[in-house]
Amino acid sequence: MRKILGLAFILLILTGIILARSPALDKEAPKILVVYYSHSGNTRAIASLIRDLTSGDVYEIQTVTPYPAEYKVIVEQIKKEKSSGVKPKIKSDFAGGQNYDLVFIGSPCWFGTIATPVETFLSTQDFSGKTLIPFITYGGSGLGSAVRDIRALQPSANVASGKAFPRSGVQDAQKEVADWLASWL
Ligand SMILES: Cc1cc2nc3c(=O)[nH]c(=O)nc-3n(C[C@H](O)[C@H](O)[C@H](O)COP(=O)(O)O)c2cc1C
Repeated sequence: MRKILGLAFILLILTGIILARSPALDKEAPKILVVYYSHSGNTRAIASLIRDLTSGDVYEIQTVTPYPAEYKVIVEQIKKEKSSGVKPKIKSDFAGGQNYDLVFIGSPCWFGTIATPVETFLSTQDFSGKTLIPFITYGGSGLGSAVRDIRALQPSANVASGKAFPRSGVQDAQKEVADWLASWL
């Protein structure tokens, strides 16, 4: 009987030590959202990697009228929209930005900043008090003014410094994404 009681006591102590040392049990896991717009698939590829590695929820921003697929045609259209101040309409089926702790916000780089559908999205949502983590895919310019422009659209959010992925590397970006995410998780 003594032996059994002694063993039970030791087990109790060990369980206490394990529980006290386990950080996962100390704090709740952050609620993660991955939201992105992608015209030709590069930003979607990075968003999928983030989703796989974080198990976060995903929302794809979509324009009501899809942009033309051909590069030269869309470039001309966006140039015209920008010079006339037109913002694309997006499908407005997203609500609940306040339900998340970390929000990864992804966009292609368009003319040195976030794509206009992402501008529309951010100007219609409330992420105040939340941490927004920008990720950008690009041809040559990197982040450009994306982070500054996101801050201007969500002045009450905590907008992190962001990460840019060259489009030439998105198919092999798993390790780069994992290393980057390690600082957030
Ligand atoms: C309208 C338009 C403007 C672009 N402007 C830039 C730019 O200023 N700098 C840059 O590096 N890449 C630019 N690109 C290239 C895209 O940023 C790049 O191909 C990106 O990875 C596309 O992402 P997506 O496949 O998710 O749409 C532009 C592409 C388009 C369609």
